[in-house]
Amino acid sequence: VNHLLGIKYLNKKDIELIFETADHFKEVINRPIKKVPSLRDITIANLFFENSTRTKLSFELAEKRLSADVINFSASQSSVKKGETLIDTVNNILSMKVDMVVMRHPNPGASVFLSQHVDASIINAGDGAHEHPTQALLDSYSIRERLGEVKGKNVVIVGDILHSRVALSNIYALKLQGANVMVCGPKTLLPKHIDKLGVKVETNLQKALNWCDVANMLRVQNERMDISYFPSTREYTQQFGVNKALLDSLDKEITIMHPGPINRGVEITSDVADSKQAIILDQVQNGVAVRMAVIYLLASKIKQ
Ligand code: CP
Repeated sequence: VNHLLGIKYLNKKDIELIFETADHFKEVINRPIKKVPSLRDITIANLFFENSTRTKLSFELAEKRLSADVINFSASQSSVKKGETLIDTVNNILSMKVDMVVMRHPNPGASVFLSQHVDASIINAGDGAHEHPTQALLDSYSIRERLGEVKGKNVVIVGDILHSRVALSNIYALKLQGANVMVCGPKTLLPKHIDKLGVKVETNLQKALNWCDVANMLRVQNERMDISYFPSTREYTQQFGVNKALLDSLDKEITIMHPGPINRGVEITSDVADSKQAIILDQVQNGVAVRMAVIYLLASKIKQ
C-alpha cells in the first residue's frame, strides 16, 4: 500500500520496520551534516486544511532532511476560500509533478477519500477526530526509547478520548505492540463504543495513574465540541488534571507524555510538563526521525 492513512491499516511488522528505519534516521539527524540524499527525485506537498505547529514543521523538516523537494499549502491562504474542492485542489497540485501528499484535514476520513480519488501517495497528518497515525508512531517510539519496549507496558490515555484522533491511533498502535491500554476521562468524553476497542476504562485518575507505567495526557478539544460535555474547566482540572502532588503520591515514578499543544494548568501543570518525568519534547524530537522513516519507506515503493 502506498499510503499511511491510519494505524488501523498497519500490522506489528510494519511498525517494527518503521522504528528500525527511524533508529537509523535518528542517528543521521544527530550528525553535524543532518541531510541524506535519499529522496532527491521526490516532490512532496504538505496540505494543511487545519492549524498545526508540530506536525507541519516536523513533516517539512523530515522531508528536507531526506532532500525531497517540498511545497507547502495552507487552506486559509488558498483558492479553497474561493470554493475549489479538495479533489480539484489536489489534482491541480499533482499536475505539477508531485509524488506524495501529506494532509491534515478537519473531516474524519478525508485522507481515505483522497487516496481513492487521486494518483499519489497519501500520508494522513490528522483527519478530524479519526486518526493521527504519525503521532501514535512517534508516541510509541518515545515509549520504546524511554522504557526499552512497548510490549507489556501499562499505558493510560487521559482526557478527551471522544474527540481525539491521537487517542484512537495510540490505542491501535499500542495494542498491536502488546501494551496494556487504559483510557481515563469523564464519562461524557468517552466514546460510546469504547468497549469494542479492547481497552480498560477508568474514571478515577488516581487509580489510573497507580496502574500505569506511562500516562499520555490529552488536551480537551474544545474546538470539536458543539455542546458542553463537562461542567467547567476548573472541574475537569480538579478531577483529570495531573500535578506534581498527585505524581508524588504514587508508589512509582511514571512517564508523562503529551502530544501538544499543552494547556498548562488545565490537563497538566508546568511543574509536571517541565519535569524529568515528562518526555514531551523527546516526542517532538522523535517525530522528525519517525516521519523521515514513514516518508522514506513509502517513497521506496513509488520508485519501484
Ligand atoms: N501533536 C500535534 O498534532 O500538534 P500540532 O497540532 O501542533 O501539529
